[in-house]
Amino acid sequence: MASSSSKSLTFFSINLFLASFLLLSCNGLKVGFYEKSCPDAEAIVKNVINQVLAVAPSLSGPLLRMHFHDCFVRGCEGSVLLNSSTHQAEKDAEPNLTLRGFQIIDKVKAALEKACPSVVSCADIVALVARDVVVATGGASWNVETGRRDGTVSNITEALQNLIPPFTNITGLKERFQQKGLSVKDLIVLSGGHTIGTSHCASFKNRIYNFTGKGTSNDTDPTLDTNYIAHLRKACLPNGPNNLVEMDPGSFRTFDQSYFLHVSKRRGLFQSDAALLDDSETKAYLESHKTGNSTTFFTDFGVSMVNMGRIGVLTGKEGEVRKVCSKVN
Ligand code: HEM
Repeated sequence: MASSSSKSLTFFSINLFLASFLLLSCNGLKVGFYEKSCPDAEAIVKNVINQVLAVAPSLSGPLLRMHFHDCFVRGCEGSVLLNSSTHQAEKDAEPNLTLRGFQIIDKVKAALEKACPSVVSCADIVALVARDVVVATGGASWNVETGRRDGTVSNITEALQNLIPPFTNITGLKERFQQKGLSVKDLIVLSGGHTIGTSHCASFKNRIYNFTGKGTSNDTDPTLDTNYIAHLRKACLPNGPNNLVEMDPGSFRTFDQSYFLHVSKRRGLFQSDAALLDDSETKAYLESHKTGNSTTFFTDFGVSMVNMGRIGVLTGKEGEVRKVCSKVN
C-alpha cells in the first residue's frame, strides 16, 4: 500500500501534468513558448513597438490589421509578410495594398535575430505586435499564445478569396467568420478593432455618392446617418484624392469602445460595420457596450484575439522559422 506521502506526490504530479497540458492549447500553441529559448522575446517586441509608435503613432492601425489579414489567409503563419517571387503574393492583393508597417515587422525581427537567431517566428511577431499596439493605444493586455511556425507559400488569389470586403452584409460576415472557426461574438468583438486607425475614401465612397449605381445627388446608403454623410463628403470629394479618414472620429488613436457608440448611431464607416445592427446578437453587444466602462470589451477583445490567433497555425516541425520575414529561408 502506498504511503500517504507518496500518494500526495502522485496527486501533485498528476496536477502538474494537467496544468502543463492546459497551458499548452490543443493546437500546439502555448503562452510563454519562448520562455526558455528566448526569454526576452516579448520584451524586445514591446520595446521596438513602443519606440516606433512614439514617433509614428499612425502605424498602430495597420499593425493591428496585419494580424487579421495574416490569420484569414492560410492561417496565422506569416504569409502576408512574404514578397512576390515567381508569382504575385498576398501583399499584391488589393485589400493588402493599404496595409503598412512591414518594415516595422522587419525591425522587430532584426532585433530578435540579434538576441536569439532563428528562434522567434514571424507569425508570432505579428501576433505579439498586435497585442502591443492595443496596449500602447490604451487597451488592456492579454496573454498571447506563441509557438507558431512560418509558412512558405503566399498567393494573391487566396488573399482575394479570404479577405472580407467592406460591403459584406451580416450573413456574409457571419459565414466568413464561421468558416475560420470564429463565433458571432468574435465577429462583433473583433470589429471593435475599428476603434483605431484610418480608412481610405475608396473603401466607403459608394455609400456617400453612388450607393445604387445611379450616382444621383442623393444616391446614398440609407443606413448611414445624414450628418455623417455630409462630414464624409467633405473629406472625400466625388473626384478628389483617395484621402484618409479617421475610423473612430474623435479617438482614432485611442483603443476604446466608442466604435460601438458610433455604429449604434449609424455612423459605422463601412457597410460591414453598419451590418452589425442587423443581427440580434451583434446588436445586443453594440447596445450594451456603447456607453459605460470598457472593461468587458477589453477582456472580450483579448479572448477573441487569442481565438483568431489560433486559425490554421503551423506548429512543431511544420513550416519553418524565417530568418527574414519577407522571404522564405
Ligand atoms: C469584419 C470584417 C472586416 C472588414 C470588412 C474590414 C475592413 C476594413 C477596411 C476596408 C479598412 C480600411 C482600409 C483602408 O481603406 O485603408 C479597415 C481598416 C482597419 N481594420 Fe478592418 N475589417 C474587418 C475586420 C477587422 C478586424 C477583425 C480587425 C482587427 C482585430 C480590423 C482592424 C482594422 C484596423 C485597425 C484598421 C485601420 C488600418 C489603418 O489604420 O491603416 N479589421 N478594415
